[in-house]
Formats: sequence, structure tokens, C-alpha cells
Amino acid sequence: MNSPFDVVVLAAGKGTRMRSARPKVLHALCGLPLLAYPLRAAQALGPNRILVVVSHGKEEVQEAFASWPVVFVDQGEPLGTGHAVRQARAYVTAPRFLVLPGDVPLVPPAALAALVEHHLRAQALASFLTVELEEPGAYGRVVRDESGRPQRIVEVGDASPAELALREVNSGVWCLENAPLVWEALAQISPNNAKGEYYLTDLVALLHPRVAALRWPHPEDLLGINDRVDLAKAESILRTRILTSWMREGVSVPDPATVYPGPDVRVGPDTLLLPGTFLYGDTEIGPNCVIGPQAYLVDAKVAEGVRIWFSVVEGAWIAEGAQIGPYAHLRAGARIGARARIGNFVEVKASQIGEGAKALHLAYIGDAEVGPRANIGAGAITCNFQPGRAEKFRTEIGAGAFIGSNACLIAPIRIGEGAVVGAGSVITEDVPPYALALARSPQVVKPERARRLEER
Ligand code: UD1
Ligand code: CA
Repeated sequence: MNSPFDVVVLAAGKGTRMRSARPKVLHALCGLPLLAYPLRAAQALGPNRILVVVSHGKEEVQEAFASWPVVFVDQGEPLGTGHAVRQARAYVTAPRFLVLPGDVPLVPPAALAALVEHHLRAQALASFLTVELEEPGAYGRVVRDESGRPQRIVEVGDASPAELALREVNSGVWCLENAPLVWEALAQISPNNAKGEYYLTDLVALLHPRVAALRWPHPEDLLGINDRVDLAKAESILRTRILTSWMREGVSVPDPATVYPGPDVRVGPDTLLLPGTFLYGDTEIGPNCVIGPQAYLVDAKVAEGVRIWFSVVEGAWIAEGAQIGPYAHLRAGARIGARARIGNFVEVKASQIGEGAKALHLAYIGDAEVGPRANIGAGAITCNFQPGRAEKFRTEIGAGAFIGSNACLIAPIRIGEGAVVGAGSVITEDVPPYALALARSPQVVKPERARRLEER
């Protein structure tokens, strides 16, 4: 948009109807806190600055959004949406500003742009988005005058039966002029209503007829989240939208009701997402993969042709053709090489696993460099941690090395290329390339020392 504007996001309310100790705007929607959504919609329009009005749980909210380019405004005691906007006065510098509720997450940038355009064309002092609902529920009802201009908004607690029957409702999204008339009207709002709050909606009556309303044709876009039922509804809408767009791009999702995508995830064509798949954060999945059943991925980078099932992947990279699971846990900094296989009850953390290497059963690989085609036996462990020491020690395993079952590699340690570590060994010294290392007590066999079966 060519004329500069600020954005004020309202995130100070108690969120009483959530019945939660956590601030409402921090509740997750498709893996991201609610507040992230209006902030992103605002960012997409390139505003002059974004102000976030906070109060209830403000420390938590500020901490969660500390890295965002926004300015926090403390509302003090949250006395209503009108009071919240008033607190932002000293921070608004552009000629006009948008007001976005922190609890209306699905608002698209296009709706905001349309509102600003409508506002400018109408030369209004205040404008807001409305939607028409079959069941207008708890939303403020829009009363229009004979000429069709918005005359006032009535909140549900204050509405007459005739007003309650109105189906056009306030979305809570506003565009306001940064003009003395508007601030004066805001100052005139009184808490003279059923809830005893300063209602921003009173602006309409106060500024009539210089108020415009734009009816947005997609009510789902402006769903407000007041309780956990609304939150589940929003989750279902957003999930369906994301999965639909993926399917249109060539991703198979045989049962969309059982796949949980985050808004920033990318998935390549011909990848199959099976039930119980969760894809969150900055996850990227290449083409031709099979993910699920039961896979939980956060911030994962997955190349082409990878299979992941019944596994958890957090902050890990997986190269082409690798196979993960069932029951593997890849943690931060795990880098799995091409065609490597990580299987049953294997945990990998901050380790590079070489091309074609295998760890298929019950192993822990932490802070290690595992060479290509190495084989980590069942129950093998890199002992990377020593009590009382903060640092983690590294293990190096050369190409093609074979680590026998139940071996403990006490780091820091190096196992050379092609070396073999015998099962059950506790390895405390480096093993040179192509050596066989055995570090266990030799077997003792005493003939005829067990009692005969008939004597037992
Ligand atoms: C509000 C509107 C209603 C509209 C609905 C749309 C008012 C009076 N009512 O009702 O007409 O249909 O949104 O979703 O505006 N907040 C603050 N400080 C406060 C109070 C609220 O920052 O003192 C924030 C809340 O955190 C929330 C937003 O403002 O993000 C809306 O407040 P909420 O109490 O949810 O308003 P509704 O009852 O939904
Ligand atoms: Ca609300």
C-alpha cells in the first residue's frame, strides 16, 4: 500500500473464556502461537510499525515474541478494547492505523488491504470489516442507518432481541485515522455497558456518519477465538487449507483429518503423508518421500525419497533415500547421510551419520561423526557425557567400521576406518584402522559344574 500506516494488535485481554493460566494469544494454532498470525498478516502489508498492546501475562507474551520487529505497549489494567487502543496513542505516528484483535488469527492480508482501500475511498475516520453469519453468536451486531451506513455496534450483552437477530457482525478489525477527532471520540467512550468495559465498538455511534464498514465475503477468515472450541475450529479450517494446497501441488494425503501441518512447512510432489503425521516449524520435505504413519517432525530438513515412520525428528537433516524408523528419535543437529538407516529405538543427537551407515537397533549416538557404511550394532552407545563436566565429548567412527552389540565407546574416542569393536566392549582407547578391539573379560567355561537336570 502506498500510504503509510501503523498496526495496533490487541493482545492484552484476559482470555477468560479459555479458562487457562496461559495468555490466550500464546495458545498454539497449527504449532504457532495465535498472536503470530495477525502479526504476520500485518507484516505482509509492510506497515510503518507494529504495536502490540499487552497486559495479562505480558512477560510471557513479550518473551515469546522478543525477536519480532514489534513495539510492546503496556495497557496496564485491561479495561476493554477501546481503552487498549487509547494506550497506543503516543506510539502511533503514521496518518492512519489498523487495529487487529490478537485472537482473530486467520485474517488474510487481502482483507486488510481491502479495508484500507475502502476506508480511503470512503474518506472515513473509522472503518471496520464485517461478516455475515448464520449464527452470529457472541459477536457485536452491526446496526446500519437508512442509507446503509454503519450507525452503531451493539455487543451481545447489551442487545435487544431485534438487534440480536441481526446477522452482520463486527470482525474486530479496524482502520482508524490518526486524527484528533478519532482520539477525542476514543476518550469519550464510557464503560456504560453490561460488561463495564470501554468498548472500541462505541466509536461507530460517536463518529457516525464518518464510519465505513466493508463486508468480507469469507466469514471463516475472521473467526474470533474466545474459547478452546473456537480454537479447535480454527485449527480445523487452517489444516484443511494447508493440506488442500499441498494436495493441489501433488502431495498425497489419503486421510487429511489425521495429518497436522504447520503453516510454514513445505512438502515436495509425490510425497505421501500417512495418518498420524505432524509437520511443524520450519520443516521442509522433498519429493517422493513417505512420511508416517505416526511421524512427528519439527524443523526437519528432509531430502528426496526418504521414509520416516513411527519416529520423532527435531532439528535434524536427512539426506536422500535414508530410512528412519520405526521408533527412531533424531534430535537437534543430527545429519543423516544418503541411504543411511536409523531404526528401532535408536537416538541420534548432534551427530553426522555417513552415507549408507546403519544403526538399526537400540543405540545412542551423540556428538559423533559416523563414517560412510559404518555399522552400529544393537545396544551400542557413545558415552559422550561425564558427570560433573559441562562439555560433551566427541566420538569418531571411521568409514565401514563395525561397532559390535552393546559396545560402550567412552568419548573422546576414535575408531579407525574398517575397525571392528567386539560386542560388549567398553572402549576407552582409540582403535586404529582395520584393528579388532575387544575390551571385555574373557569367557570362563568350567565343564560339568552345572547340576544335572535330573538332580534339580
Ligand atoms: C470484540 C468486539 C466485537 C467483535 C469481536 C470479534 C469489542 C467491544 N467487541 O468482542 O464487537 O464482534 O471482538 O472477534 O471490541 N483486548 C485488549 N485489551 C482489553 C480487552 C481486549 O487488548 O482491555 C484484546 C483481547 O486480548 C482480544 C481482543 O482485544 O485479542 C478482543 O477482545 P475480546 O474481549 O475477545 O472481545 P470480544 O468479546 O471477542
Ligand atoms: Ca474475541
